[in-house]
Amino acid sequence: MPIEYLEEAKTWILTTSKTAYVMGVDETGCLQHLYWGARLPRNADYPRPSLTWQAAFESPRGLAYEEYPAWEGIKYREPAVKASFADGVREVILTYDSHHLLPASPAASIPELVISLKDPDYALQVDLHYRVYEACDLIERFAEIRNNGAKPVTLEQALSAVWSLPRGSGYRLSYLAGKWAGETQLRRTEITEGKFALESRRGLTSHQMNPWFAIDPKERAGEEHGEVWFGALAWSGSWKIVVEQTSLGHLVVSGGINDFDFAWLLEANETFRTPAFVAGYTEGGFGAASRNLHQFQLRHVLPKEHRHKPRKVLYNSWEATYFGVTEEGQAQLAEKAAAIGVELFVVDDGWFGARDNDTAGLGDWYVNREKFPNGLKPLIGKVHALGMEFGIWVEPEMVNPDSDLYRKHPDWVYHFPNRPRTESRNQLILNLSRQDVRDYIFTVLDDLLSSYEISFVKWDANRHFSQPGWPEAPQGRSREIWVRHVQGVYYILDRLRERHPNVVFESCSGGGGRVDLGILQHTDQVWTSDNTDAFDRLRIQEGFSHAYCPKVMMAWVTDSPNFLNQRQLPLAFRFHSAMMGSLGIGGNLNEWSAEDMKLARQKIAEYKEIRQIVQEGRLYRLLSPSEGGLSAFQYVADDKRKAVLFVFLHSQQFGERVPRIRLRGLLPEAVYEVTGTGTDQAPVVLSGKALASIGIEVELTGDFASRLIRVDLKTS
Ligand code: DGJ
Repeated sequence: MPIEYLEEAKTWILTTSKTAYVMGVDETGCLQHLYWGARLPRNADYPRPSLTWQAAFESPRGLAYEEYPAWEGIKYREPAVKASFADGVREVILTYDSHHLLPASPAASIPELVISLKDPDYALQVDLHYRVYEACDLIERFAEIRNNGAKPVTLEQALSAVWSLPRGSGYRLSYLAGKWAGETQLRRTEITEGKFALESRRGLTSHQMNPWFAIDPKERAGEEHGEVWFGALAWSGSWKIVVEQTSLGHLVVSGGINDFDFAWLLEANETFRTPAFVAGYTEGGFGAASRNLHQFQLRHVLPKEHRHKPRKVLYNSWEATYFGVTEEGQAQLAEKAAAIGVELFVVDDGWFGARDNDTAGLGDWYVNREKFPNGLKPLIGKVHALGMEFGIWVEPEMVNPDSDLYRKHPDWVYHFPNRPRTESRNQLILNLSRQDVRDYIFTVLDDLLSSYEISFVKWDANRHFSQPGWPEAPQGRSREIWVRHVQGVYYILDRLRERHPNVVFESCSGGGGRVDLGILQHTDQVWTSDNTDAFDRLRIQEGFSHAYCPKVMMAWVTDSPNFLNQRQLPLAFRFHSAMMGSLGIGGNLNEWSAEDMKLARQKIAEYKEIRQIVQEGRLYRLLSPSEGGLSAFQYVADDKRKAVLFVFLHSQQFGERVPRIRLRGLLPEAVYEVTGTGTDQAPVVLSGKALASIGIEVELTGDFASRLIRVDLKTS
């Protein structure tokens, strides 16, 4: 029973395969959090609600762990909700009212508990939703805040969830920080009293912080052992996750839409629904935490149409031609891409409007006839004739002032009257809070997808917000843009998906600036980073993998030296690094030698053999690229009959041999054959237990050496 209610104790016990999450109503009607950790043998083991703690300058409610604290009374921790009523009252009191289960039918797979809280004096109701993902050991929470009265209510903070950890000290926070071309860098810091805010106020998820956290206790977890509480927020706009430790040892993680400059008007009978915040607990370390999140994405998050299909090997023109795309040039690249086994050919920026560089053309989504005199049809025909699908780049939320669209509709961008409109990458942001702008973008993209046989869309967004004004907004609604914009993006994507279910969508924002569980409900994959240096990528991808599954992680093989660091890397190293996610090719194939093309053909063929394991398997981060010159990542198939291992050596020194690498996640008693450990090495035959205990010798010498090692169950 994943959701149990103990009537007498007024307590709910949510259980997943290995964990339990418990809450209950105390004598004042306050919904308290009681326990989140390992599943216990008896229901009677779980704590019961009480309000017995007293401390000077505090109140019993303020000292309790409240499930969804509103700002009221003697309570000073981060509130989940803050609102003002029409009469000027600015506090909300939330008291338990009722609860029910969703879905009503036991046949539906995800059980959901809804607990309703109400304000005793005002007609405000908060429904707390809890979805229990048993097999993934995760709980997903969101809140619906409803104005049941006649007068408007203004929400000033409306978080998705507050997660409470056992009181104590010495905890450590792991988070993903970054920048353009340096996203998802894993950072760790000790938690002490105060607040540590992970956030974006930029209108998009951002490169700078990603909405994911993990916390381990004083005893410290490792990759494969120890307690970790972790979670990720499903929101693609401004967000915050506040990790707060009080002087009395409470530790809470509050997260949701960022309240900065946010206000939402709830008219009579209107409901505001927060994004979801999913979280889990494990005793299996950071590795188990991320594998649970990966499985959750593969089973429940990614859009259904392409969820279970393998991601195709794509070619993308960006680094090869930048804005200089032409029918002839792309056709030439397409021939080469097809020859090495690419399955999907994507034309990036530059195919539309007056788009010769980044100063003009954004917003004018019609084909540039100088570059494509006969439209896109001849190129698409050629790509299809070569046996590939065709894809295209768009940046629908943005406009260059130097564009027909902006000349016609200068009022369609976010702006404050009497203030300059600050450009970034020479562009402004279209106001997707407006329904007419949403409809226009939908129509243009729908026309594009209806006129051409396009199977893939890369949806980019290359700036963050400034002057977030909406001068024509209905009274009291101008600060809603932070939410309405994101809803607009989701709305357009959903309508397009409905009309064009075969199209695969990729989320991009100047690389990995919009990667989160929210966008992953509407797009099938993400562009991880504009940094395509295969060595830097090891760390970006490692951080990425803590929160997101390899299937959505696009990684291209590009030219050497790489444009960013001028680093020269062997082609095999570049391939191995990119093969750890969904593989793409992004180099200028016209400049690849015959030998390069031969190796590329081999590697792409090999990737097709292993992609099921990489894209859907269980990832074990064996050796971290952040902790030395040797890194290793292992992917194990669901049935554990196969695995692949990627090993990278930064630089050999003193003639040293790399230490044995111990494998994980295999069947201990089964016997496996391990191939590819060295240039002329015979396959190694060992049991799963031996591979875990003794490990394998891997031949790696020199600088930037790498190996792709295959592990297969020995059948005879
Ligand atoms: C930023 C993206 O991350 C790149 O891959 C490329 O699509 C450019 N935008 C195009 O302007």
